[in-house]
Amino acid sequence: MAKIAVVGCGYVGLGTAAVFADLGNQVIGLDVDATRVERLQAGDCPIFEPGLEEILLRNVQAGRLRFTTEYAEALVEAEFAFICVSTPMGPHGGANMRYVRQAARSIGQHLAPGRRTIVVNKSTMPPGSGDLVGALLGEEISQDARYAVVANPEFLREGTAVQDMLHPDRVVLGATDRTAAEAVATLYQPFNAPIVITNLRTAEMIKYAANAFLATRISFINEIAHICEALGADVRQVSQAIGLDKRIGPHFLNAGIGFGGSCFPKDAQALEYMAAVADCYPQLLRAVLDINRAGRRSFVSKLDRMLGGLDGRVIAVWGLAFKPNTDDLREAPALDIIRELISCGAQVKAYDPAAMPNARELLPGIGFCSDPYEAAAGADAVALITEWNEFKGLDLGRVHSLMRRAVLVDGRNLYDPYEMASLGFTYRGVGVPVVEALEGEPEEVEVQQLVSGD
Ligand code: UGA
Repeated sequence: MAKIAVVGCGYVGLGTAAVFADLGNQVIGLDVDATRVERLQAGDCPIFEPGLEEILLRNVQAGRLRFTTEYAEALVEAEFAFICVSTPMGPHGGANMRYVRQAARSIGQHLAPGRRTIVVNKSTMPPGSGDLVGALLGEEISQDARYAVVANPEFLREGTAVQDMLHPDRVVLGATDRTAAEAVATLYQPFNAPIVITNLRTAEMIKYAANAFLATRISFINEIAHICEALGADVRQVSQAIGLDKRIGPHFLNAGIGFGGSCFPKDAQALEYMAAVADCYPQLLRAVLDINRAGRRSFVSKLDRMLGGLDGRVIAVWGLAFKPNTDDLREAPALDIIRELISCGAQVKAYDPAAMPNARELLPGIGFCSDPYEAAAGADAVALITEWNEFKGLDLGRVHSLMRRAVLVDGRNLYDPYEMASLGFTYRGVGVPVVEALEGEPEEVEVQQLVSGD
């Protein structure tokens, strides 16, 4: 069993620390935030992540996992030091490497003498970062401490972090020294996943390419949804049918108001920036980002059209987090949408099962409700932004009876347009047919000139 230090106790760091400890390794998590460390040491998980608290507590109690703010303590015995600090978006769209630099320098200053420590870059870092971390370690080490750097990008999703850690599709390891990559590979052996060993820059690029590709699929299907809406087709069935093609596959083809979160917007932007700086012309990435921004604007325009203006309207917002099963609001579409609604004079009443404590500071001037019914009461429209399971099982008849006007704009295609019409709602999804209340038939679309060939 290995001795592992994990620097940075956010989603990636905690997931990594907890799962490696659960496999029987001795793990010590380091964070500069003393309050966070204190909570973690008591087995109290500071982030909302299903299943994580249980596994943290179990391993803290078993003595395999502990936390500290001190590099000296974290590194004294560590064979592996994972860098899991954040790489936020910099002012020009590139990754801000401030925290990585600080972590690398501090690790370098405290590397144990007389043996080799393998420093593993797990944070998302631009190609070239492995070399940078190596150089910073080299500047800081003293005595006869030795090190090797391995890039090991993480592919876990928020909300399913523990499961994703336990069942990776593949493990990517990049290194100049193959023995270092192979040593890290032994940590992953219990997962039984394919291991891809590359050079440092390739491993770093794999992470950006994976996120950019997934973001591209989402923007692609959102563009198709837009066209479906104009031509009277149903994007849900289009996604299902194209997804059955094995070459395409079913994942990340849910149309909606677009992607948010701490990764896709930031990483697509950073890749676009790096490409532009390198004199490449990243036209596809630019389109992916443009389409994503447009999704938020067109959602507000749809509400505006349906209500005949937004000034003075009361809008119930269901869902604030950037996706279900998280309380994370980073780059959440809800933030842009709510700010735009407010600037157009609307009054917003919001409900989210997990993200309201985080939202209170970011969204002053809106009302927070204790459930979706309270939010809908007296509203001119419901704007569904995050597809929490809780919203699937609601008594929509009751919602209808509580609203001032039964308008529901569904940014995630959670509901069926025919059912909504039969309940008396004026309902709009993204790229789905418009079904008028009472009639129950799809709206006829003017496609004559397209099919006649004239
Ligand atoms: C994403 C990747 O899926 C992970 O593999 C990666 O490790 C992570 O970024 C990261 O770089 O750290 P995450 O941001 O947690 O994970 O969330 P996803 O589940 O991928 O969703 C991202 C966004 O895409 C959400 O806003 C979601 O609503 C949206 N989405 C996803 C769609 O609009 N349609 C889809 O079909 C799928």
